[in-house]
Amino acid sequence: MTVRRPILALLLALALSAAALPAAASAKLKPCPSSGSGCTLARVAAETGIFVGTAISNQATATEKADITANFNAVTSENAFKWSEMSKTAGATDFTTTDRLVAWARAKKLRLRAHTLFWHRIQNAPWLKAELAASPNPSARLRQLIAERTAKVVGRYRGKVAIWDVINEPLALFGAGYDTEDSSVTPKNIFYTTLGESYIADAFGLAHKADPKAKLFLNELLWDSRIGDPKSDALLALVARLKKARVPIDGVGIQAHAMLGTSSPWFPSSTPSLKRYIDALGKLGVKVEITELDVRLPLLADQPNPLAAQAAVYRRVASACAQARACSGLTVWGQRDSYSWLDSYSLTSATAPNSPLLLDAGGKRKLAYQAVAAGLLERRR
Ligand code: XIL
Repeated sequence: MTVRRPILALLLALALSAAALPAAASAKLKPCPSSGSGCTLARVAAETGIFVGTAISNQATATEKADITANFNAVTSENAFKWSEMSKTAGATDFTTTDRLVAWARAKKLRLRAHTLFWHRIQNAPWLKAELAASPNPSARLRQLIAERTAKVVGRYRGKVAIWDVINEPLALFGAGYDTEDSSVTPKNIFYTTLGESYIADAFGLAHKADPKAKLFLNELLWDSRIGDPKSDALLALVARLKKARVPIDGVGIQAHAMLGTSSPWFPSSTPSLKRYIDALGKLGVKVEITELDVRLPLLADQPNPLAAQAAVYRRVASACAQARACSGLTVWGQRDSYSWLDSYSLTSATAPNSPLLLDAGGKRKLAYQAVAAGLLERRR
């Protein structure tokens, strides 16, 4: 006992100092000015305890990687973990890209959010529909496929992925004319129509079993002025049902793409409305992260200073995150304006370049960058 105690104390001290690393490193530097200018978002993250992340593409160049390590302390896989990317044909799983990404993020000490296990829209497994159609028992087959993918993929990275987006966009879009969905909040996706809502609880339970330490999130698209509308209410109700059923869900991601501008003023109409919404989720016992923020500049073309208006939208979101205790992270969907998914996405490509990000095409910090820093620093006070 007496011999072991000093060893235990040493191990404890080492563990504590490792956990406190980012804060300790920044303590030697002058604190970030509250305007946010002159501070990287990685330092803001260390000062506030709010993770600041960015999406990393499968083809990230050396420049993109340098932008990431210079500015952020967290990454989300933009595409690598999606079922369509990992499995081109039934039964096959390719880990080449995800292995590389996991190793890189670990080497750079970046928190990794794996996005996503199950997403019906755009990047579902290309063979899934035919597989279920051919099966004598589609619901049993789908349950089996969900269990297999979860065990295989989450299990492989057990202890190496900090956060899993277990389910992405479970709710219907509630936007007429988008994809093939109508304007109802009832989900029409292949998981839901085959299994009902049970697929969500099942996937969370299986993911928890495969990696008990990973934080498990449900990620949902809320855009424009959707806070306070039926879709945001449906999300609260869904999370309440999951918590009541003791599903191991740790958090909710609010994607926050400000991309369609279907209503004005658009997402989020105000800092208090988003803060209230995050607080409401927090009361249900989950953490919240803003997971895919980008703000399309062409939507602000009629403003006297579009870049300042864009910064103001970013600021509203960052302030809400800082003010709402449950908010533990903010991630933007890319680094430089020269590469954004919005420039090739069917609904938004016509207005390319959409310039929705924090660094301009030359890598210079935009007003929006300082705005995010200043907004998040409100947590410090
Ligand atoms: C996007 C990627 O950025 C693109 O590269 C891909 O072609 C389509 O998907 N909501 C999500 C993300 O949850 O996975 C999407 O990412 C953007 C919308």
